[in-house]
Amino acid sequence: MTALSERPRRLRRTPALRRLVRETRLAPADLVLPLFVKEGLEQPAPIRSMPGVMQHSPTSFREAVTQAEQAGVGAVMLFGIPGERDAHGDAACSETSILAQAIGWARASSDLPVIADLCLDEFTSHGHCGVLDDRGAVDNDATLRVYARMAVVLANAGADILGLSGMMDGQVAAARAALDAQGLQDTALLAYSAKYASAFYGPFRDAVESALEGDRRTYQQDPGNRREAAREVRLDVAEGADVVMVKPALAYLDVVADTAATVDVPVAAYVVSGEYAMIEAAAAAGMIDRERAILEALTSVRRAGAQVIATYWATEVAALLNSGGGR
Ligand code: PBG
Repeated sequence: MTALSERPRRLRRTPALRRLVRETRLAPADLVLPLFVKEGLEQPAPIRSMPGVMQHSPTSFREAVTQAEQAGVGAVMLFGIPGERDAHGDAACSETSILAQAIGWARASSDLPVIADLCLDEFTSHGHCGVLDDRGAVDNDATLRVYARMAVVLANAGADILGLSGMMDGQVAAARAALDAQGLQDTALLAYSAKYASAFYGPFRDAVESALEGDRRTYQQDPGNRREAAREVRLDVAEGADVVMVKPALAYLDVVADTAATVDVPVAAYVVSGEYAMIEAAAAAGMIDRERAILEALTSVRRAGAQVIATYWATEVAALLNSGGGR
């Protein structure tokens, strides 16, 4: 026997020992389930690039919310796909928009916190997250005025938390001021603070049938930037963000770790559509063990420091954890 002063393998010897010293655990309540609801659908429609994810009808949406709640998922996060789009995204501010209706359905069928996406891209004919100026550029300050109206509509519809995903400067302050002016001080704001212009959103654009041509690089962050994320996070917290989010998650774990180390509000991270699709595709091709890969990916996000994880696998993983899997 060699005289080694330390033998880390001692604590890896049995499953029970490994479980005892595991630093990071997933829990159902940490997981947020994003859901897509499409106006006018009578049956749920599969999304080609996101196997297992649906555009929901009212009925299948309610079922998905109930299943998430029964599995102990922490919250649902809603995206609406309207029947009609226009240049200004007018439907986003309608009290009868598909998103506002879905908030009401979720409210009525569960006690889960409801997070509503506050952004224009699902509602604009050009697919940008804001309104355009006369040269076709995204007009930051004009967009803030629309976000302010949309915030009040979504809060009045019953959303507990508004997810500000548009990456306009000043969007958190604009939403907060509009809500407070209407006595809606209890509606919380989840800021997509460090949101990168990412190729990993590709399948999401199928999911919401986005009409976007071009890209979002004038408002979403450049993938090469780490320090800039700290600035975005600092600004959002100063503007009143209740939760800050990093997105995508897996390709930006350094940013998740930096953020968790610097703020005292909860940190969320979004395992986005392309990250989901990569694992599903590799698993479907027999290249990786699907369940292990999913658990490992989600664990990495927790380990990096995110407390809350938005993931399309939320209900499945919550159920797995409840049944003693993943340990
Ligand atoms: C924009 C928005 C996007 C996603 C969430 N909110 C797309 C984008 O910024 O282009 C992507 C989520 C995902 O890919 O899973 N409202």
